[in-house]
Amino acid sequence: MSENKRGFSTAPIGMFDSGVGGVSVLREAVRMLPNERFIFYGDTKNAPYGTKPRETVLALSRNVVKELLSLGVKAIVIACNTATSAAAADLRAEYPELPIIAMEPALKPASLLRHDGIVLSLATPGTIAGEKYAHLYALYGAGVVSLPCPGLMEFVERGELSGPELHTYLENLFAPYEASKVEAVVLGCTHYSFLKRSIAAFFPGVPLLDGNEGTVRQLHRRLEALGLLAPDTAKGGVELLSSGGGQPIARMQALLNAVL
Ligand code: DGL
Repeated sequence: MSENKRGFSTAPIGMFDSGVGGVSVLREAVRMLPNERFIFYGDTKNAPYGTKPRETVLALSRNVVKELLSLGVKAIVIACNTATSAAAADLRAEYPELPIIAMEPALKPASLLRHDGIVLSLATPGTIAGEKYAHLYALYGAGVVSLPCPGLMEFVERGELSGPELHTYLENLFAPYEASKVEAVVLGCTHYSFLKRSIAAFFPGVPLLDGNEGTVRQLHRRLEALGLLAPDTAKGGVELLSSGGGQPIARMQALLNAVL
């Protein structure tokens, strides 16, 4: 077992989101890093994060990180764009020794796919109003239409990944762009990755981009650089926790195993 001052390579990785959405990152992580143990924390009691003020999301994220650290994690993955925007910089300053991997809406890869049309960027109101997004937009925002989606994560929390109500929500959201040439859709909230199929129905053949795989690749790079990757012989696994009790845990489990 290799060890450095941050912890043991066989210690678990802590991952969190406001609810079940971050399980879309967890699925990718389990697939790509099968020897790692993950503790996923869904802060369901305090969801949604995306319509709360930045200071509130920062305070909530701090509490979750404390909780995960008390469980002996070797790294933190913020599997939430909203919490990344509100809290990643502060948390990194507060825990300089702790690897903290965070997310960002995939505007950069989307910009490579745009020619003469538009990119639709879906995220929570908090993410779109945040400084981090403004910075990203200044660099890669040409032709990007930002669409805050209050109420959309709640469909995923309810386990409603398709159906007439979701269809109506999306129809209203996309109606103004019916005549536009949409060349990419950014899923800038980890919950929306679970709605890929329903969203794709509005944009046949158009790539839908989330940051999940890139985030896990970054996690791999950071752990490797620190000598904290679990050895090939280690048995990976997942533990699910929620501030909202057993029901959300069952929904997380279902999403973790779902064939999408
Ligand atoms: N899953 C979260 C994100 O990636 C946020 C959902 C919410 O709590 O509003 O932004």
